[in-house]
Amino acid sequence: MPYPEEVETPRLRGERIDSRHFDEICQLHRDPLVAALLTAGGRPVADQVTREGLERHTGHWERHGYGFWVFRAKDGGQFIGRGGLGHYEVAGEEMAGLSYAVVSGEWGRGYATEIARVGVEAGFEGLGLEWIGSWTLEKNEASKRVMEKVGFRYERAIEFAELPHLFFRLRKAWYKRPL
Ligand SMILES: CC(C)(COP(=O)(O)OP(=O)(O)OC[C@H]1O[C@@H](n2cnc3c(N)ncnc32)[C@H](O)[C@@H]1OP(=O)(O)O)[C@@H](O)C(=O)NCCC(=O)NCCS
Repeated sequence: MPYPEEVETPRLRGERIDSRHFDEICQLHRDPLVAALLTAGGRPVADQVTREGLERHTGHWERHGYGFWVFRAKDGGQFIGRGGLGHYEVAGEEMAGLSYAVVSGEWGRGYATEIARVGVEAGFEGLGLEWIGSWTLEKNEASKRVMEKVGFRYERAIEFAELPHLFFRLRKAWYKRPL
């Protein structure tokens, strides 16, 4: 099974991200609680930056054969968030890195954990990866908890996007599917 363009989690459906998701990703990026954890200084992401980001994500899928998905609830179809794997260079090391973001009205319901799990499973099974990286701002307790729940282990402090981050790694051998 290659890294799929469409995925399912227990409560969500994900589809390959592209420019048709502009309104939904703008909704996420205009959310001040999300921006506080995603951007330098917590500034909302300007719509033009979202547009350029979607072009990069589209190009990423074409170049690498994998990337982010946009997730909606199976029950009702409302937009929940985005996430998946991306190719990054982090502190001089090339890697597939896991990302996730959920609209703030849906936080605390386990959605990011579902997104994280389907992302790492696609990486290990579809891409044959031996490990996956993930990193977060130190203050992002929810993100650290998501990583911990999925099995990531803290490795070291790094600089990413000119900000101090904490770097975590998940090896395939450490990953346990939920029962
Ligand atoms: C990080 C984020 C994706 C989490 O989404 P979510 O759907 O609420 O995550 P989940 O519900 O799957 O899990 C969150 C966990 O963090 C815990 N948590 C939340 N806030 C916390 C805090 N301040 N301190 C400790 N734990 C916290 C929750 O209790 C939950 O753990 P539990 O299941 O053991 O109770 C969401 O806050 C978000 O979109 N933030 C903005 C974007 C972002 O930060 N992305 C990650 C960048 S590294």
